[in-house]
Amino acid sequence: MAFRNSYEDDAYAVAYAKLEFPGTYYLAFRDLPGLFAKHATGRQALDFGCGAGRSTRFLRNLGFEAVGADIAEEMVRRARTIDPAGDYRLIEHGDLSRFADGSFDLVFSAFTFDNIPTRAAKVRLFTEFARLLKPTGRMVNLISAPEMYYYEWASFSTKDFPENRQAKCGDEVLIINTALDDHRPATDILWPDQDYREVYDSSGLRVVEVHRPLGRADEPYEWVNETTIAPWVIYVLGRL
Ligand SMILES: C[S@@+](CC[C@H](N)C(=O)[O-])C[C@H]1O[C@@H](n2cnc3c(N)ncnc32)[C@H](O)[C@@H]1O
Repeated sequence: MAFRNSYEDDAYAVAYAKLEFPGTYYLAFRDLPGLFAKHATGRQALDFGCGAGRSTRFLRNLGFEAVGADIAEEMVRRARTIDPAGDYRLIEHGDLSRFADGSFDLVFSAFTFDNIPTRAAKVRLFTEFARLLKPTGRMVNLISAPEMYYYEWASFSTKDFPENRQAKCGDEVLIINTALDDHRPATDILWPDQDYREVYDSSGLRVVEVHRPLGRADEPYEWVNETTIAPWVIYVLGRL
């Protein structure tokens, strides 16, 4: 059966458009400004899988000239409504051919690859990112660690899905985002570190830095496992 993108759903888009950086999400975004400052040498950015524009607005607030791109029409419509001055493009089947070679200093993707099912689809997209990057450009891929699907978190729950622990690379895993009004489980695709590294290698990209943010006791969140287990992985990639 074909994988269904949970985000191509109008009710989910409504819930997602209200989402900012609650709970565990705070940890996903907390260290990005420092990573961008360290690795990105210019301002032209692509936000691949921009959803309702949260991650694109984040880039714009940091001074990037960011283009958001997504396959879900309702998400792109909401991104444009929230941020009329922003640049949001609806792309079909992840087709990035409209963007010129070497046109971005930064290609950012926040959580998009949690929903892209096959190795072939991943390699095709990362090969495109390598084409789109300037020679000194960086791709930053923020994804859920496999552990995300095994434990409980400040704003995610997986306790009803013990079968997640048996999942192998490419298998579907279920997770509930408790920060959303819509508590239906989302279906993600498990993709461990070693398998990501093989995809990057096959796509003409090299790993420059891997960051796994942990929560700190003095932060104003009720961390559950976040201080000892990293829920997110942030890969900084460069062209080979
Ligand atoms: C979890 S949402 C994240 C949205 C946004 N980056 C954020 O942080 O709020 C993932 C988004 O990736 C999009 N997506 C999934 N597959 C895609 C593809 N092949 N090409 C472009 N976007 C895709 C989905 O439609 C969804 O809006």
